[in-house]
Amino acid sequence: MEFLKIAVIGGGTMGNGIAHVFSLKEFETYLVEINSELLDKAIKNIGENMNRQVKKEVISAEQKESALKRIKPTVGLENIPADVDLVIEAIYENRDAKLKIFSELEKRIKPDAIFATNTSSISITELSVVCRADRFIGMHFMNPVPVMKLVEIIRGYSTSDSTFNAIKDLALNLDKVPVEVYDYPGFISNRILMPMINEAVFALMEGVAKAEDIDQVMKLGMNHPMGPLTLADFIGLDVCLAIMEVLYQGFNDPKYRPCPLLKKMVAAKKLGRKTGEGFYKY
Ligand code: CAA
Repeated sequence: MEFLKIAVIGGGTMGNGIAHVFSLKEFETYLVEINSELLDKAIKNIGENMNRQVKKEVISAEQKESALKRIKPTVGLENIPADVDLVIEAIYENRDAKLKIFSELEKRIKPDAIFATNTSSISITELSVVCRADRFIGMHFMNPVPVMKLVEIIRGYSTSDSTFNAIKDLALNLDKVPVEVYDYPGFISNRILMPMINEAVFALMEGVAKAEDIDQVMKLGMNHPMGPLTLADFIGLDVCLAIMEVLYQGFNDPKYRPCPLLKKMVAAKKLGRKTGEGFYKY
């Protein structure tokens, strides 16, 4: 299958990163938000992130300019052209909001287009039932999208082999490394990452060590680029908590219970970098 026109729904951290990589690879990229203020912010972020790549000589200034021209800022789902070949949804983690988007798109987007979701933990199978389930798939990028090589490609219960193969080839085309995953809570990335972060929060809560020292152990002892508490601040503590809840409910297993300190910090709106404070101050 040939992909020419792509629509990315949501211009937040993940959505703008996804639009960034598609536009650089010469896809006509519709970036969709609910209003023009959010769109302007998303395009500004993409420009700044591309500037980092220009400075590092990863891309040229000309590549940046032509990529930005290929991004079509779009307000509202109703303004996505019906003939896009692929939709990638990257809004906040809310099952009902995602279901609403896919059921609306099902009515207007051409039937042979593929629908993908960048959800970090919501069941692909559950999201697929309101639309073309055989042409529905999880395409889970990692943050920061322009830098991270991995894309988890998650097959829902009804995802066809041709859909899987098309998306796998597309990920390779973006110079990413695709990994095939089946639809179980947290997929692979978050099933393993989030319990590690949650355990680091338990260690902090129990006074095993200071935040800096917990992070230092994992950085210097295990060669992780960021310690788990720094990474939690980077991802957002609300996102970490939401994923732990999905694991806890999805497996019905107490080993996934979210740490009370993580819950308390989310209640206090100390969500990490995006609010200026989490385990560290920014
Ligand atoms: N766009 C473009 N380039 C970017 C960028 C962005 N948004 N962010 C960083 N970069 C580039 C920098 O320009 C720099 O380029 P060079 O290597 O050419 O110098 C490079 O990436 C490294 O950045 P920095 O020098 O600023 O800082 P760093 O060396 O500390 O790396 C990092 C930053 C890449 C984020 C690194 O700390 C890292 O890999 N951290 C772990 C990230 C991680 O685990 N992500 C997964 C999160 S989980 C997730 O996404 C899934 C989920 O569902 C929750």
